[in-house]
This record gives sequence, structure tokens and C-alpha cells, in this order.
Amino acid sequence: MKKKQLGLIIALTLSLASMTATAELTFRNVITGQPLDFSVAKKGGDTEAFKQFKETGKNPYNGNAEVVQKGHDLYMTACSGCHGHEAEGKLGPGLADDYWTYPANATDQGLFEVLFGGANGMMGPQYNNLTTDEMLQIMAHLRDIYKGNPKKAKWLK
Ligand code: HEC
Repeated sequence: MKKKQLGLIIALTLSLASMTATAELTFRNVITGQPLDFSVAKKGGDTEAFKQFKETGKNPYNGNAEVVQKGHDLYMTACSGCHGHEAEGKLGPGLADDYWTYPANATDQGLFEVLFGGANGMMGPQYNNLTTDEMLQIMAHLRDIYKGNPKKAKWLK
């Protein structure tokens, strides 16, 4: 094989490899359907865990006891006023049971989409308030206190 051809093949293989490595899911605003704009995110949240999450849609922090504790503390500050201390529901709906206004919340991608982009009324977008990594921490806490039917825990599948 000529050197030039070989070089071309290597270049093609490399570019294909980098394309698959950066393949990301599309995250959307649950109300408008518009893609979420991560460039407006609060600084500091683009951690390894978040990078992985953008590719898989699965929260790598689920089941990590240390992170679950941090998520609990963040939840108390940012969410409990409206959703209740045990996420039992207050002004906003309960978040530890298996009834969801937005059924996609049974997946980690869906839950993240509501946190980052907000939903209706008082459920404002959280991208100013929390980093994307902190959102994953809160999500891990919510999955940890889940009291619904295990069969409906789609994030485990
Ligand atoms: C100011 C009050 C308020 C705060 C603070 C708030 N929420 Fe909400 N949340 C609401 C309301 C009201 C709704 C219902 C909105 C709707 O149905 O579109 C809601 C809806 C949701 C939903 C969708 C539930 C479903 O059944 O599909 C999720 C998930 C959620 N909130 C998570 C959170 C988390 C996590 C936090 C903290 C980061 C938070 N919210 C902070 C008021 C709030």
C-alpha cells in the first residue's frame, strides 16, 4: 500500500473514532421541545460524570452513597421548600413515588430535562441555580428515596 493511501486510511479511522467518542444524546425542554442549551449552564458542572451522562443518558451517580448524601443536602436547599422534605409533595408534586406528570421522569434523561430546563409554572429551570453535576447529585438522591413500584423504575433498565 502506498504511504499516501495509508495516511488517508488512518486519518479516516481517527475521525470516525472521534465522532463516535463525542456522540451525545439530544436533551430537550419538556414544554417547548427545543434542545437544551448547555452553554448557559452554571460554570463548573462539566465533570467526567456529566460527560458520561450526556452520552449514555444514565446517571453514573445512582447508588453512590457519598454522592447521594450530597444530593440530599442540595435537595434540602434547592427543592424541599416546594416538593417537601421527603419529596412527598407540597406546592410541587411528590418526587419519590411512581406517578409522574411527565412520564419521561422515570428515566434519568427525562428527570434531568425537567431540572435543567424547567416545566410549567413555579417549576423554573435550575441551570442558574445548580451546576449540571449538582443536578445529577440531586437526581441520585431522588432515586435513592424512591418508594414506588420497582417495576416502574425505568432508570434501572
Ligand atoms: C418554587 C417551587 C419549586 C421549586 C423550588 C422546585 N420545584 Fe419542581 N415543581 C414545582 C411545581 C409547581 C411543579 C409542577 C410543574 C408542572 O407540572 O409542569 C414541579 C415539577 C417538578 C418535576 C416534575 C414532576 C412530575 O411529576 O413529572 C420534577 C422532577 C421536579 N419538579 C423536580 C424538582 C427538583 C429536583 C427541584 C430542586 C432542584 C425542584 N423541582 C424545585 C415547584 C418547584
